[in-house]
Amino acid sequence: MELDKVIQTRRSIRKFAPDPVSDEMIHALLEAARLAPSGSNIQPWRFVVIKSTEMKERLRAVTACRFALKAPVLLVCCADLTAIEASPAQVTELLQAGVFNGVEIDNGFSIPGKNKEQALGYLSLNVGIAITHMILKAVDLGLGTCWIGAFDPKTTQEILELDPRLHVVALLPVGYPERVPTQRPRFSMEKLLVKTV
Ligand SMILES: Cc1cc2nc3c(=O)[nH]c(=O)nc-3n(C[C@H](O)[C@H](O)[C@H](O)COP(=O)(O)O)c2cc1C
Repeated sequence: MELDKVIQTRRSIRKFAPDPVSDEMIHALLEAARLAPSGSNIQPWRFVVIKSTEMKERLRAVTACRFALKAPVLLVCCADLTAIEASPAQVTELLQAGVFNGVEIDNGFSIPGKNKEQALGYLSLNVGIAITHMILKAVDLGLGTCWIGAFDPKTTQEILELDPRLHVVALLPVGYPERVPTQRPRFSMEKLLVKTV
């Protein structure tokens, strides 16, 4: 589908048809995430694919958004909290590949990560970009998704027995839309554009 059409037709889908989502489609979504940009190319996103009805049932404890658990697939989108440690090596790779050759850049640029809170914000931002790639790819495939921010990350981590280095950023139900809502209103251009200087 043409990119403009994907962006214009995407909606948050909260009612899914029971039809299964193929492994090829799940793979295509993960591939879209894999190709997302990230600070210093640290690629901190990690995903858990949930198809099991039993596991979805157990996750009722983590979110009031029960509809998300009725989707055929639930992607648990995580940030690897140790990913920042890989940034020197990743920067070296960028340097060796010559991406900064002939461009103006001061020495000693660094990515945010001085304290835990700053690092978490930065990592979550990167994971959010990968999630957006998946959301848009889903539309291209005729699938629907809904970003779920209203959930308990800690309990999700416990139920899924995830390594403590993984912080759950969002849940993303995926399936064929059963109901496509009308477009939600957006603020005007005037409101979003603060100024052009
Ligand atoms: C960070 C984020 C968190 C969200 N969390 C939820 C959520 O917990 N439950 C829900 O039903 N929708 C959630 N949404 C979906 C928004 O409600 C939706 O994007 C917004 O109303 C605009 O509608 P649209 O996506 O159909 O254009 C979330 C969206 C984003 C980007």
